[in-house]
Amino acid sequence: PSAVPGFPNPTTHTQQRYHWNTNYTSKWTRADARQLAAMSDPTAPPRTNSMPEEYTMPTVPQSFPDMSGGEVWVWDSWPLTDAQANQYSYKGWEVIFSLVADRRLGFDDRHTYAKLGYFFRPASIPSAQRPVDGGWTYGGLVFPPGVSGEIFDDQTFTHQTEWSGSTRIFSNGQVKVFYTAVAFYRDAAGQDVKPADARIVMSPGKIKANANGVWFTGFKKHHELLKPDGLWYQNGAQNPFYNFRDPFAFEDPQYPGRTFMVFEGNTATQRGTRACVESDLGYQPGDPYAENLETVMDQGANLRMANVGLAIADNAALTKWHFLPPILSANCVTDQTERPQIYYKDGKYYLFTISHRSTFAPGIDGPEGVYGFVGNGVRSDYQPVNRGSGLALGNPTNLNYAAGTPFAPDFNQHPGAFQAYSHYVMPGGLVQSFIDTIGTSDNFRRGGTLGPTVKLNISGDTTTVDRTYGVGGLGGYADIPANRAKF
Ligand code: FRU
Repeated sequence: PSAVPGFPNPTTHTQQRYHWNTNYTSKWTRADARQLAAMSDPTAPPRTNSMPEEYTMPTVPQSFPDMSGGEVWVWDSWPLTDAQANQYSYKGWEVIFSLVADRRLGFDDRHTYAKLGYFFRPASIPSAQRPVDGGWTYGGLVFPPGVSGEIFDDQTFTHQTEWSGSTRIFSNGQVKVFYTAVAFYRDAAGQDVKPADARIVMSPGKIKANANGVWFTGFKKHHELLKPDGLWYQNGAQNPFYNFRDPFAFEDPQYPGRTFMVFEGNTATQRGTRACVESDLGYQPGDPYAENLETVMDQGANLRMANVGLAIADNAALTKWHFLPPILSANCVTDQTERPQIYYKDGKYYLFTISHRSTFAPGIDGPEGVYGFVGNGVRSDYQPVNRGSGLALGNPTNLNYAAGTPFAPDFNQHPGAFQAYSHYVMPGGLVQSFIDTIGTSDNFRRGGTLGPTVKLNISGDTTTVDRTYGVGGLGGYADIPANRAKF
């Protein structure tokens, strides 16, 4: 008997831990991901949420404030963190790093103009006492102009951007910014003349602060750490639409003295290769709702081949790294497992990663949101949270109606279907994200600023939205509080 009538059972995952240096990659299977549709109410009327409320972010009002006061578009953001992702204030200031772009650009044009900016605000103020927009001051760009482009062999790029990553703080105000440098080579019509070149980079600098605020020095040297090897991690020659980005650097208490990173990758096949196997589908033997592998690939599911990569530092300065086999693959499930992070709670390891509705493979559907996997180590047979599906926190979404896009939302879709993206899970289960679009085709407003922080109760293989947090579950806008302080 299946768990939900008409749907397959999810794959059995043991959460068993494997050594970091082994070749074990856990799978988010189609049997797992089909639990997303299994929990959707097929009778939910237009503009209502078809997904369970306990895994759904409360609806964000269209009247949200803009944290930069109209200065810049803001999206992916992260705090100053230590090896275990504690969030630090520095000399009385909270600091965040955000992808930013000029407001004169359309919001959808932001990706090829993204630069790393930063914001600061006084620490230790309860969120209810802060200004409604979070009370941040925009500090400007993090890096001196031009330096993040210097690593590229081919300097004829037309656009060069800084994409997501993480920032580690050490002693004496030393910081290391891990980020993705991307060069684009385009013609006058905006078409790629060769694939974009994405590399994971680290730049060391120093944070400075006085009574007036925060600034940085250094960041003159940018160390290229990794470019996709085509062996575990797909490169531009294999697929011009490859994803390789978003380094999150951390230490694993099980292996003291080593530094790791997780990042977004794709399984390294030539695009279009029929590379999915039965274990990517993951059906239990004899499941009457199992799919046929060849049919799944005939539908093009094998063009959606995400993974979460792992790499390890070879030196204490964190300037030299090498790849390890991925910790998770989502072959024939989704094409993007973005901004992965490792989160520790009650002795368990949680892998959180964001995915779009639009990047799921044919036959799989689920909301924009953050997906979670729990295991006994960084490399383990990860159990997808919440009924085996993986959905940790989704936007209110109606899977019975077309997805639409952030620039052209669907008339029948829930107005919150694009309300949040690029979620980052913080100490205490707080989750921050940016606002993309709020509304339906007849009336919508673009975001480009951080949304309200919400709180997840994380326990075993379940995560549920805490609706007692803030007002009806919505906390302060752009609320990224420090849980530790450095002076
Ligand atoms: C997520 C994301 C990241 C990337 C950035 C580029 O919102 O796609 O994966 O670093 O945005 O803008």
